[in-house]
Amino acid sequence: MKPVRKAVFPVAGWGTRFLPATKSIPKEMLPIVDKPLIQYAVEEALEAGIDTLIFVTSRKKHAISDHFDTAFELQTRLAESGSTEKLKQITDIVPSHVARVHVTQSEALGLGHAILCAETIVGDEPFAILLADDMILNQGSGAIKQMIAAHNETGDSI
Ligand code: UTP
Repeated sequence: MKPVRKAVFPVAGWGTRFLPATKSIPKEMLPIVDKPLIQYAVEEALEAGIDTLIFVTSRKKHAISDHFDTAFELQTRLAESGSTEKLKQITDIVPSHVARVHVTQSEALGLGHAILCAETIVGDEPFAILLADDMILNQGSGAIKQMIAAHNETGDSI
């Protein structure tokens, strides 16, 4: 059985249920304490051994790709001011061995359509789907890690 190494994050929806907060901020970027929702989802995927993050995004969601991208000016400023802890907080968001792929859903035609937009990147491999706006916190292993373990045991869709 092929290992689950890819995770799809559909983040191209309108987020109308959170208006007006989401008028200009993507729903997935709303913070819980000190991190945006999408970062919790990415951390859950990384904990489960995912090494390819596939974001299905739209033209109004640049903040999401920016969040996971290198922020040269900020990093230089933090390095120069000796703020090593703060620097680590932003450079550790995605480890260097992890690939990020952004696929565009040009029209928000629904969740199923968003996932289908990742088809060519996923190929013929098992993959995880994470909806960042459903935050699942539990003690012990994260939900995706548990679901992958169940998939590995049964070979089924979970
Ligand atoms: P939701 O149904 O919660 O997203 O889909 P939404 O459409 O943004 O929500 P409301 O009803 O307007 O508030 C779950 C996830 O799927 C993504 C959303 O961004 C969210 O993370 N999604 C939804 C897409 O990527 N594309 C779509 O066409 C719809």
